[in-house]
Amino acid sequence: MADIIDGRAIARQLDEKTKAQVEELVATGHPAPGLTVILVGEDPASEVYVRRKIKACERVGIRSSEHRLPADTSQEDLLDLIASLNADPEVHGILCQVPLPDHIDTRLVLRSISPDKDVDGFHPVNVGRLSTGTGGIVPCTPLGVMMLINTVIPDLTGKDAVVIGKSNIVGKPVANLLLDAEATVTVTHIYTHGLPAICRKADVIVAAAGAPELVKGDWVKEGAVIIDVGITRQETEDGKTKLVGDVAFDECQHAKAITPVPGGVGPMTIACLLANTVQAARRSMVGNGDTGSDYADVPSRTMFTGSASKPN
Ligand code: GUN
Repeated sequence: MADIIDGRAIARQLDEKTKAQVEELVATGHPAPGLTVILVGEDPASEVYVRRKIKACERVGIRSSEHRLPADTSQEDLLDLIASLNADPEVHGILCQVPLPDHIDTRLVLRSISPDKDVDGFHPVNVGRLSTGTGGIVPCTPLGVMMLINTVIPDLTGKDAVVIGKSNIVGKPVANLLLDAEATVTVTHIYTHGLPAICRKADVIVAAAGAPELVKGDWVKEGAVIIDVGITRQETEDGKTKLVGDVAFDECQHAKAITPVPGGVGPMTIACLLANTVQAARRSMVGNGDTGSDYADVPSRTMFTGSASKPN
């Protein structure tokens, strides 16, 4: 049987570290880190996500505030709000929940958030920093994926990793993080020819295609590590619904370790949002130099130290 990578437990451990960092900041005379969440409109799924994020802040001592704006809010008003939050020294992290209403240019809005407060890691400056291994804020789900892998394979040097999915939010940043950790990375997607054979060579598979049970048991090498980012709600035969990942979980018990859905990657995303908020706050309060390694749980050689241990 494959080991189950318990994302809930690992997220709880990360929350403990984040809470301790908040306490340390406060104990040394700094204000508690502050996260502001913007929600435009009344998308029910977004409401649930935002509520979870606010509650999670309370657990670790992050001050949170919410701006709930009506669906017909103009783009200009939203940009004005973000500009005022960018200038507010008590706000260390800004998260504008997407999707935004159709009349708003999402890319423009996400670019208007200061890169230093962009706790989603979506701003092109942070994307650039990630792809050049020069620090910055790492998107939450990819960061969580790396932390989960790190619990099973602390050193990825020379490992073969296959990423399925090429989204800006998961696939591409995960590929960059894996490369940075000295893995040999193949980025694939649902149109990739010969995907089963490519996966069969992998020591690590990160499935983030949004295609339920795409990865079958015979795509997986004995002893591989599987991180399943997919989460799709499917109807069952008895008319109920269940959450399904991108991996046929039951068929993959010859893997070394696998994340469940739910309870794998999902819990890590919010825990990493909290960690990113504290990182942004620490950088604004005490600068980069004094904070040490911000992402001690990420198997990265160059990203956060600025120097490679081996020739690139
Ligand atoms: N909507 C769904 N997930 C996310 C997320 O991680 N960040 C933002 N900003 N919006 C989302």
